[in-house]
Amino acid sequence: MSVQWTPDLGTEVNEIDDQHKELFKRIDSLLEAWKQGKAHAEVDKVINFLTEYVVFHFGNEEKYMVKYGYTNKVQHLAQHDLFVKTFGRLKEKFMARGANAELIEEANQLLVDWLKNHIKYSDKALGLFLKRKM
Ligand SMILES: [Fe+2]
Repeated sequence: MSVQWTPDLGTEVNEIDDQHKELFKRIDSLLEAWKQGKAHAEVDKVINFLTEYVVFHFGNEEKYMVKYGYTNKVQHLAQHDLFVKTFGRLKEKFMARGANAELIEEANQLLVDWLKNHIKYSDKALGLFLKRKM
């Protein structure tokens, strides 16, 4: 597994950390499926699985932001929207041209690097806030 959660990404909220670990696992599955040249139908399953999990995880963070009146909610949710849009564009590229080295590199930057940065700066801040409220 090349893409994985590391302890420096901890947010102090176990539930959110567990979901981040799962998110990394599912992104890793997608990248592996692309690298191994898996059949389109097989990759579609992995993509659908990841898509559903992204919705669930972002929805869960949003639920807590609303429940505890998080002040940076708007900016944080705009970042989530950006991720969903970027992921959507990558999916379209895959549908149009299949997996190739360029797509995998792009996904590494736009999904993996983005996620790590988002967790380090935005989710850690959210985690600290929630820890005081929960
Ligand atoms: Fe987040």
